[in-house]
Amino acid sequence: MNTVAAHYDRPLLADALIARLAEHGIDRRSVTLEHLAALDQMHVRGHPATLELADALELPKRAKVLDLGSGIGGPARVLASAYDARVTALDLTPALCEANRALNQLVGLTRRITVLEGDATNLPFENATFDRVVTIHASMNIDRKRTMYREAYRVLKPGGRFGFYDVVAGPAGRPDFPLPWATQAIDSFLVSPSTMSEIAEEVGFRNRMFRDVTNQARNEIVRQQEAAAAGKAAGDPVPLQAGDILMGPKASDKQRNLRRALKEGRIGLTMAVFEKPRS
Ligand SMILES: C[S@@+](CC[C@H](N)C(=O)[O-])C[C@H]1O[C@@H](n2cnc3c(N)ncnc32)[C@H](O)[C@@H]1O
Repeated sequence: MNTVAAHYDRPLLADALIARLAEHGIDRRSVTLEHLAALDQMHVRGHPATLELADALELPKRAKVLDLGSGIGGPARVLASAYDARVTALDLTPALCEANRALNQLVGLTRRITVLEGDATNLPFENATFDRVVTIHASMNIDRKRTMYREAYRVLKPGGRFGFYDVVAGPAGRPDFPLPWATQAIDSFLVSPSTMSEIAEEVGFRNRMFRDVTNQARNEIVRQQEAAAAGKAAGDPVPLQAGDILMGPKASDKQRNLRRALKEGRIGLTMAVFEKPRS
């Protein structure tokens, strides 16, 4: 197993998430997509950010969608359920693929989502297979971004779209580690937003949308911290979340370094949509 997959490796992850739901009074037989949404989105701003990217992709009916670096399948389940897509969810880390399958089974989405272990830089699909390719918070683990984007371009049908929501390098220098996506600097490959857009255009994509969404993330983190403090002061029950389970060892250091890097401008967030021209 390479160091990126080792970083994300969490055996029996679905069981741990189901146990967390049970602690909140949610029995495995009554788990819904709404319950999972609080746990299964492994990216900054979670479920609302997934919906924003999905909306921006303007999916056709029953779109064939490829999700690169699909994690435990949070975004794939949103695309399959709320957008009626047929999703292929591809991820490098076997334990996350296994958890993805188990959660799909729990909410009855196995027929709409196919989960595959694989590498986003070497896709096992024919040319022009998909209507949309998406990737959320995975490319920061991938050094060969040109190869990844070229593969996304290759497997898209003409007129198809490639959407990403990713962490990018900020203007204020390098972040401290560990971070949620990398225990150490050797597994983190952040580039500037302009480099990402240059690479996408070099491989042939046409830019349709390119947004700096760093401030939304900063504001959301402040809002969450204020809500957590108010909830604690009022003696409210602990909200349902699974950051500690998903991030594993040193989860609180990873979260603290992420918040600080965002605040200090050492990282940013970009949401973008590119199109493969029809001719
Ligand atoms: C932070 S998680 C994001 C998961 C998911 N996209 C989400 O937002 O919930 C990053 C994921 O990218 C996967 N990944 C990293 N490098 C990859 C590669 N070269 N090919 C496929 N998946 C990769 C990791 O295994 C991990 O599941």
